[in-house]
Amino acid sequence: MTNKIQAVKGMNDLLPGKVESWHLVEEVLREVAWSYGYQEIRTPIVEKTALFQQSIGDQTDIVEKEMYVFDDASDTSLALRPEATAATVRAGNQHGLFHNQHQRLWYMGPMFRRERPQKGRYRQFHQFGIEAFGWQGPDIDAEVIRVGARIWERLGVKNISLKLNTLGSPESRERYRDALYEYFSDNKQLLDEDSLRRLARSPLRILDSKVPSTQELVVAAPSIIDFLDEDSHAKFTTLCDSLTRSGIEIDIDDRLVRGLDYYTSTVFEWVTDQLGSQSAVCAGGRYDQLVEQRGGRPTPGVGFAMGIERLVELIAIEQVNEVPAQLDLYVISMDEQQHAVEIAELVRKSGIRAVEHCGGGKVKNQMKKADQSGAQFAVIVGEDEIANRSVQLKDLRGDGRQEQVKLDLLVTKLQSKITRIN
Ligand code: HAM
Repeated sequence: MTNKIQAVKGMNDLLPGKVESWHLVEEVLREVAWSYGYQEIRTPIVEKTALFQQSIGDQTDIVEKEMYVFDDASDTSLALRPEATAATVRAGNQHGLFHNQHQRLWYMGPMFRRERPQKGRYRQFHQFGIEAFGWQGPDIDAEVIRVGARIWERLGVKNISLKLNTLGSPESRERYRDALYEYFSDNKQLLDEDSLRRLARSPLRILDSKVPSTQELVVAAPSIIDFLDEDSHAKFTTLCDSLTRSGIEIDIDDRLVRGLDYYTSTVFEWVTDQLGSQSAVCAGGRYDQLVEQRGGRPTPGVGFAMGIERLVELIAIEQVNEVPAQLDLYVISMDEQQHAVEIAELVRKSGIRAVEHCGGGKVKNQMKKADQSGAQFAVIVGEDEIANRSVQLKDLRGDGRQEQVKLDLLVTKLQSKITRIN
């Protein structure tokens, strides 16, 4: 007996029935991105490992523990991408996208992190993200956050709120780092192992610790707000004002630092209380030094990425969108199969999605199959209908009405009645 090989842990199949809600979400994401003038970029799923080590930071969880890394034949270390900001920067530098120009870009696709799988946290997951390059902000920071808010509005998501913080300028962050270093060093005995290791190089990351004893220590740690210089303070205030004027409620969280090293000033997360411990649906911020660090000209950047699995789950919980049927028409033939074929081909030419019944059988059984198919309508083609160039059109989802429709009018009739997502 051979073993049934199962999917890799944390990597999910997306089956018919579920994939339709993904289409709905993806369509909205694309539409909103375009409506703000963002253009799509697609980068490879595999990149050189060094790109992520140098961009995300070699003391981050992602780089230390979670990347899928392998050597290719020429001994270059490659990695499945754990996120797409680093690759977007790499591609922008490589193709001169940042030379004397601004860019608004979006992407969508699979990412890979070898995390402990649980609800809302997977090893292959999908992100939609936007990245804006070349603007100092804070107007563009506000725009990026507004794109998120618009997506929630379009999808009807209500239980979501914005956590916002700033890490200030490099100088203010440096002063804050020193203060944190001092504070945590004085309380070393209370730090967990990971935090102790991070103390010297990334004391800010300790604020992000999930270990309860360290969290207790974090409560009384110094706040970034007290270390901001005038310019950082002014930019943050302008950003908050702009968002408030757009009707976006802000929860300022001075402990929000994010788990990737490239962030510079603004950082934010959209969180929900509907998804248990995986509460962040969308996260991002500013990374003003990354383009230069990766060999490009100094170019500020800001963006976010959202987890599509979490978003789809949230929509299912909030039950805000009923996903309409994907199939429009099921063609049943009482006599000559060829007539059914011709009708199906005729309607498909106008973009209507039609399935022909195959395998013959009684009309009653064909009707059962039509019902099971999920189609919105069925047409029944019998001898009488063929004789007077018409069909019987039956509404399978609404009131179940059946009417005779002239063949010439069938396409127009269906088009006026079909509700579909794409
Ligand atoms: P991130 O916080 O690592 O940021 O991921 C962004 C979002 O991706 C998370 O809020 C979450 O919704 C989703 N996500 C992350 N890991 C998983 C997982 N294992 N399973 C399911 N969903 C997950 C970034 O990736 C940055 N590149 C965001 C960014 C773009 N910053 C600036 N531009």
